[in-house]
Amino acid sequence: HQAKLTLDPAFKVAPVSRRTFGTFIEHLGRCVYTGIYEPDHPTADDDGFRRDVLDLTRELGISTVRYPGGNFVSGYRWEDGVGPLARRPRRLDLAWHSTETNEVGVDEFVRWCRKAGVEPMMAINLGTRGIEEALDLLEYCNHPSGTALADQRAANGAKEPHGIKMWCLGNEMDGPWQIGHKTASEYGRLAAETARAMRMVDPSLELVACGSSGSGIATFGAWEATVLEETYDVVDFISCHAYYEEKDGDLGSFLASSTNMEYFISSVVATADHVGAKLKSRKKIDISFDEWNIWYISRGQDNDPRTDWPVAPRLLEDHYHLADAVAFGGLLITLLRNSDRVTAASLAQLVNVIAPIMTEPGGRAWRQSTFHPFAQASRLAAGDVLRVEPVSPAYETAQYGEVALVHAVATHSEEGGTTLFAVNRSTDEPLSLEIDARALGGARIVEATTLSDTDVYARNTADDPDRIAPRPNENVEHDPMRVLLPPVSWNVIRLA
Ligand code: AHR
Repeated sequence: HQAKLTLDPAFKVAPVSRRTFGTFIEHLGRCVYTGIYEPDHPTADDDGFRRDVLDLTRELGISTVRYPGGNFVSGYRWEDGVGPLARRPRRLDLAWHSTETNEVGVDEFVRWCRKAGVEPMMAINLGTRGIEEALDLLEYCNHPSGTALADQRAANGAKEPHGIKMWCLGNEMDGPWQIGHKTASEYGRLAAETARAMRMVDPSLELVACGSSGSGIATFGAWEATVLEETYDVVDFISCHAYYEEKDGDLGSFLASSTNMEYFISSVVATADHVGAKLKSRKKIDISFDEWNIWYISRGQDNDPRTDWPVAPRLLEDHYHLADAVAFGGLLITLLRNSDRVTAASLAQLVNVIAPIMTEPGGRAWRQSTFHPFAQASRLAAGDVLRVEPVSPAYETAQYGEVALVHAVATHSEEGGTTLFAVNRSTDEPLSLEIDARALGGARIVEATTLSDTDVYARNTADDPDRIAPRPNENVEHDPMRVLLPPVSWNVIRLA
């Protein structure tokens, strides 16, 4: 196969938004307990945080972290998680049929964020709770001092305000599984009134209204329209959530998952702009794609009815293979290609729970296959996103019809040069990609790496943690510039 694309710094989409490289920590399974926090672990620091996980988090290069859920937040009482540990109650977590010990709460989370060098992003409970509790949490977190809640925070050890800018107004309120699930108009009204009140505390907050929990849900499209009609003036973002998996051995469709994400984004942008036009507003609503990943949800390993209420059980612990990382890379490319409207995103989640980082309690931490596309893109995407339009052969997929074999995006900055991110979706053939870089004034390929394997289902494990990792791509020609992309591969090509 042969394909071709042109790199031209004149064709800018938008600046790279650092917030595209956000993730998510939910009180779910072992994400918090034995994930980021394990006081008995050999690498634990004075706060009980695993240093090995902190190191991998820094290497992953994340920008924001959404917290504390997810479905968990819709039954959460934030007050349970602050103050002296001995007085924190244990509670039933209905979302994940677990017991929440509340050893970690908002103050610990923000402390962890500071250590990791990331921006905290907070979700409020609009399932069982409402405006008052949202205002209390906001005051507790962000008010400097001199009120009961701000002084309580200081007494709990956090003298400086947490300064949290970005707030999610609930989680997946369109989903019938959500505690306190609402209709679009019920939720739209509550979200608007909560946002208005929060802005009375601080007009500069960045607020996210819940969009759809998937583009396949029956209310998709109508939900966004109704919610935005209520909230347009008081929110900045509408959220999108999407998870993908290989079904029935259909690898071709799975590798084209970003086709659905593209449809999701363009539909939500169109809906938001339609509401803006109706309201005669000049404001644009951006997308916070604040849950996205590969998740083998239909295997149902976590859906068995349970009668027990364990603490930090093993839930949603998907072990990703090479093909997962390539489908994942395609999603990342789509997020970047839409950087004019997708200005924030959160990979769900960070540790153990459908995560790029895995740990064993008391044991090792390691990088899953999906760690690598994320870390490379976060490290190298800089400056502006460039529009690239590959001329590529296509293949037939059961789910999406004809799809191009190559999916790509590039970024460009004066200092950092140009980086091309590309996947080859072919399941059996390498693809020769020709790069026309005449507009880059003599730039040459200075580095090319590929993530590929002879076994597309090979995985990293605690004992073999580097089976799937980027390796130098030796199949590079310079005049004309050509790179050979192996079948089922994620590729990074730097030009300077
Ligand atoms: O990320 C796992 C779960 O997926 C989240 O709790 C929920 O918001 C979504 O359905």
